[in-house]
Amino acid sequence: MGRRHEASLPPAVRRMVTAAAEYLIGCAGIAAVRALDRDVVGQAHRPRGAAGRVTGWVFAHRPSNRRRNRWVVSLLSVRPADQILEVGFGPGIAVAELVRAGAGHVHGVDHSEVMLRQASRRNAAAIRAGRVTLVNAPADRLPPALDGPFDAILAVNSLGFWPAPAERLAELRRRLAPGGRIAIASQPRCPGASAGTSRDAADEIENLLRGAGFTQMSTQTLALSPPVICVLATVPGIGTPER
Ligand SMILES: C[S@@+](CC[C@H](N)C(=O)[O-])C[C@H]1O[C@@H](n2cnc3c(N)ncnc32)[C@H](O)[C@@H]1O
Repeated sequence: MGRRHEASLPPAVRRMVTAAAEYLIGCAGIAAVRALDRDVVGQAHRPRGAAGRVTGWVFAHRPSNRRRNRWVVSLLSVRPADQILEVGFGPGIAVAELVRAGAGHVHGVDHSEVMLRQASRRNAAAIRAGRVTLVNAPADRLPPALDGPFDAILAVNSLGFWPAPAERLAELRRRLAPGGRIAIASQPRCPGASAGTSRDAADEIENLLRGAGFTQMSTQTLALSPPVICVLATVPGIGTPER
């Protein structure tokens, strides 16, 4: 479709055409990843090489991925002075969204060098402006620069890959300021994943967060297929009764 025709389309139709195109490109991207690398789950765990670059591109363009990240950021009610940490930022969609939402500073950590490069390109202006710092490190060896305290921490489709997630969450809790909040989101991507799989993921995350000492738990759902769940919780503030 030529640019002139596109410009004459009503905005709603343009949005639909764009979403359909992105979806088809996303599917083609997944097929390309499968052709390049049979270990697709391994690529989601730690994108690397040429197949990792395609995986990152798919993460960044698949409409459901973009909606999921935008939605999780909206749940965090970002405030202008907030210091925020994302663990497993992938191609940096949530990082860009956090900047748009007006966060004071966004820190991110991901153990994939390919993801660090893609997220850094996507957020180059915010990095230059001193609003974003992205580092290449595993969740179980966060560098001292990420000791915090943070006002909010998030992880989107990443916790499932961490070694010993209960310990990781306890460490993250110590990095949050009193009253700080955490958002752990999951959209199960295993074959046959259903609403039940999402509910199970929510139960598991709630239990992990409770065990790590978080309180005021609430679970939100975004109606995609399968649904995205996001468990929100806080670290008790000074003088706040634990619930
Ligand atoms: C499925 S992708 C999700 C990316 C992004 N959060 C999103 O929703 O678009 C998982 C990301 O978590 C990162 N990751 C997985 N395990 C990790 C670990 N132990 N430490 C740091 N990053 C990790 C991967 O490299 C990958 O970028």
